[in-house]
Amino acid sequence: MSSNPRRRAWSLRGKLVAQLIGLLAVVCVLVGVVTELALDAFLVDKLDEQLRQASDRALAVSRGPDRPPPAGVPTGPLASLEAPGQGIDTLNAVLSGGDVVRAERLSGPEAERELLPASSYDILTSLPVDGRAYSRDLGDFGAYRLSAVRTDDGHVLVTGLPLSQVDDTLWSVGLILGGVALGAVTITGLAGAWTVRRTLRPLDRLAATAGRVTELPLDKGEVALPVRVPESDTDTRTEVGKVGLALNQMLGHVADALDARQRSESRVRRFVADASHELRTPLAAIKGYAELVGRHGDAVPRDVRFAFSRVESESARMTNLVEELLLLARLDSGRARVHEPVDLSRLVADAVADAHVAGPGHRWVLDAPAEPITVLGDAEQVHQVVANLLGNARAHTPAGTRVDVVLGERGNEAVLRVRDDGPGIPGDLLPEVFERFARGDTSRSRSAGSTGLGLAIVAAVVAAHHGHVGVTSEPGATEFTVTLPVSAPGGAVA
Ligand SMILES: Nc1ncnc2c1ncn2[C@@H]1O[C@H](COP(=O)(O)OP(=O)(O)OP(=O)(O)O)[C@@H](O)[C@H]1O
Ligand SMILES: [Mg+2]
Repeated sequence: MSSNPRRRAWSLRGKLVAQLIGLLAVVCVLVGVVTELALDAFLVDKLDEQLRQASDRALAVSRGPDRPPPAGVPTGPLASLEAPGQGIDTLNAVLSGGDVVRAERLSGPEAERELLPASSYDILTSLPVDGRAYSRDLGDFGAYRLSAVRTDDGHVLVTGLPLSQVDDTLWSVGLILGGVALGAVTITGLAGAWTVRRTLRPLDRLAATAGRVTELPLDKGEVALPVRVPESDTDTRTEVGKVGLALNQMLGHVADALDARQRSESRVRRFVADASHELRTPLAAIKGYAELVGRHGDAVPRDVRFAFSRVESESARMTNLVEELLLLARLDSGRARVHEPVDLSRLVADAVADAHVAGPGHRWVLDAPAEPITVLGDAEQVHQVVANLLGNARAHTPAGTRVDVVLGERGNEAVLRVRDDGPGIPGDLLPEVFERFARGDTSRSRSAGSTGLGLAIVAAVVAAHHGHVGVTSEPGATEFTVTLPVSAPGGAVA
C-alpha cells in the first residue's frame, strides 16, 4: 500500500468531526444569510409604510389648512416642512422646477431642524417622482429611504426616513445569530468528538485484536492463534460487528491454515528423520562390505578394488549427509536437547588441535582464557558447531591462510570467534549462508565433498541452545561469531 507522506493523514474520527462542524457551519451561515435578508426586507417594508404615511402628512399639509393659519406660519409647499406628527430624523425637502427650495431634517423633539448640505441636492433632484421609496446614501446623514411626490401646484415634496434603525437591528440580529452559531459549532464539535469516539471504540478494539495477531510469531513452529474479536463486537446488525465477525472468521481460517502447515511440516520432518534413520543400516552394510573387499585386496582385480574403494568413500560421505539430515530433523522438531555442562574451552582446544592435523597447511592460532568456560547443552552438537566452522575455514581457504580462534566471555555469554584471512564468502551467498544447501558453487567445494549443510547445522544447534550466530565477510577477513549462554553454577542456564 502506498501513501503520500506529504498529505496529512486524517483519522476517521477527525474527518467525521470536521465534516460535522463544516456542515453545521454551512447551515448556520445559510440560516444567518436568509434570516438577515428576510428581516431586511420586512423592516424596510415597515419603514416604507411609515415613509408613505409621513409623505402623506407632508402632502396634506402642503394642500393648505381648512382654516387660515396663524400669522408667521408658512402655507403652500413650504408648509409641508412643518407637517405635524413627523418623527425625529425625518427628512423633508421641497423642490421646485428641478431645484431644491429647502431641504432639512428634524433633529430634535422641539422641532429643531438641520439643513441638508448642498452636496446632497443632486440626490434629491434626481429622485423619481412616483411616490415610491428608494434607498439613498446622504453622506454624513447616513442612508435614507426617500420618496418624492408632486403637489397639485407642481412642486415636488421629498420625504425621507433613516435606514439606521433597520441597519442597527440587522447588525444586532446578525451578532446574535453569529454568537449562537459559534456556540452551536463549538458544542457540536465537542459533543461530536465525544460521540464519535464512543461510537468508534469498537473499531479500536478490532484494531487492537489485529495488532495482537501481528505480534504473534506465525512464520514457524507450532502456532496457537487464540486471539479473537470479543463476542460483543461481532453483532452483524452493526457495521463494526460485520467487520468483527469477518475478522474472526479470517482468524479461524488462518489458524486452520497454520495448523495444516504445521502438520505438513511435521510430516515432512518425520519423513526425513525416518528416511535418514532407515538409510543408516543399508549404508553401514555397504560400507562394511566395501571394507571387506578392501581387506581381501589381493584376491580381487585392481579395477574392482578401486571401484570398491570409491564405494567406501562415497558411502562414508552419504552416511555423513544422512547423519546431518537426521540431526537437522531432530533439531527442527525441538527434540534432541540434552542439557549437560559442556566445557567449551576444552572442546575448542581439542577442535583446534584436530584442525592442525587435518589442515597442516593452515596457520591455526587459539586464544582462550585460562579459566574454563562452561555452557549448558549437548556436547556432541556443540562440538559439531566448532568443527563445522573450523572445517569451513580450512576447506574454503587456500593453504597458508591464518585462522584465529578466539574464545571469551562477555556478561552471561560465551563468545567464540573464528576468523580467517582467506578469500571470503561470495557477496551473493553471504545473506543466505546459513540456509540449508547454500554453498559457494566453486568446483573446489564440490570436489571437497561440500553439501552446504554445515552452517545450517551451526545455526540450528546454536538456536536450540538459545544462542546467536553471525558472520561478516570480505576478502581477507571472514569472521563467524557464536554466542552461547554460559551455565551458572548449579546447572541452570544463566
Ligand atoms: N571461512 C569461509 N571462507 C570462505 N567461504 C566460506 C567460509 N565458510 C563458509 N563459506 C562458504 O559458505 C558455504 C556454505 O558453508 P557450509 O559449511 O554451510 O557448507 P559447505 O562447507 O559447502 O558444506 P558442508 O555441509 O560440507 O559443510 C560454503 O560452500 C562456502 O562457499
Ligand atoms: Mg562446511
